Amino acid sequence: MPDLDSPQRQAPDSLMLTGFWYRALPADQVHRNQLHKATLLEIPLVIGRDNQKKPFALRDACPHRGMPLCCGRFDGENVECSYHGWQFDAHNGQCELIPSLTADQNLKVDRIYAGSYPCEEQDGFIWVYIPDPGPQGAGFTEPEEAPDAAPLIEKFGVPGKEKYKLAYLTADMPVSIDHGIIGLMDPAHGPFVHQAWWWRSRHSIHEKKKNFEPIPNGFRMSAHTPSSNSAPYKLLRLYAAADSITTTIDFVLPNLRREIIRAGKYWFSSLTTVTPITRNQCRIDVVAAWNIFRWMPFGPDLLKFVFAKFVEQDRHTMELQAEGLKHNPHLMLIDDADRPAKWYFQLKAAHLEAKRTGTEMKHPMAGPVTLKWKS
Ligand code: FES
Ligand SMILES: [Fe+2]
Repeated sequence: MPDLDSPQRQAPDSLMLTGFWYRALPADQVHRNQLHKATLLEIPLVIGRDNQKKPFALRDACPHRGMPLCCGRFDGENVECSYHGWQFDAHNGQCELIPSLTADQNLKVDRIYAGSYPCEEQDGFIWVYIPDPGPQGAGFTEPEEAPDAAPLIEKFGVPGKEKYKLAYLTADMPVSIDHGIIGLMDPAHGPFVHQAWWWRSRHSIHEKKKNFEPIPNGFRMSAHTPSSNSAPYKLLRLYAAADSITTTIDFVLPNLRREIIRAGKYWFSSLTTVTPITRNQCRIDVVAAWNIFRWMPFGPDLLKFVFAKFVEQDRHTMELQAEGLKHNPHLMLIDDADRPAKWYFQLKAAHLEAKRTGTEMKHPMAGPVTLKWKS
């Protein structure tokens, strides 16, 4: 088994998992008939929307001589390479035209493909499915189908008629996916990184005890009354009795953190992802949906302000951490505060092992576990 749960893992060799959906770009940054650059798992992508606003994702390298396709032209249907004018169907990457061919040259143009990826718009983001890599040097064919749809944010209320607001925040982190993710699930940094006079001070540290349980591909912090110093909780207390508020937090491979807070008919639901961009760079995207504060003009802004502050504090911390990681320090994970991080590495290793052997994944957690820490 690959030694993934060794705490000494460093930024540069963090493994990026293929065979999953990843958030590529915020949907409001991708305009019709324009080409945008994005990178996922070190793969250069060009992303756009066709005439019908349907998003697409192609590998940003022409199969002829490698010119980035994002430098070319897009007519709402085909992408034209800027070097020799080859044209490709934006959705499946199939070559439609090679302008240099003469009438008697019968090269099978339609057998040539630019790499293309399943692409969906979901809850304000363009998602791209990154399949397992094909055999070396095989070239591209038709896109592989994604086995499932891109992850959704859970919403509550009458299905199809839920009324809610949606907002996102995004921040680049100069660390590997593994450091990004364990930073996200780390319960002990709060009082040190996220202090603010209007929020909490490090003197509010107290002992916490939380129950965790295994779920498919991940683990759940079981439904509980949120800790009195968590962000949405303080705001939700304005709406409901403190003991009627419950929250669950899930982590699911490869990079999904779902938090759902419910207080009677009010709810707040978020899906945070940490996306591997390159081996030593990741991006955190927080997308939240909620049905509270809708009558309050400054409600969403207040919430966005609080979250923006948090994300910026995390980003700044990881920027500093990246400095220290440059010199390959010996690292450690301690119990119980770093146990979620250990589970993450174990889940990743178990997932890879199951894939390698073609067997079902063996979950690293045998059953529910209670963790204790101070924060
Ligand atoms: S490199 Fe794209 S058409 Fe030649
Ligand atoms: Fe944080």
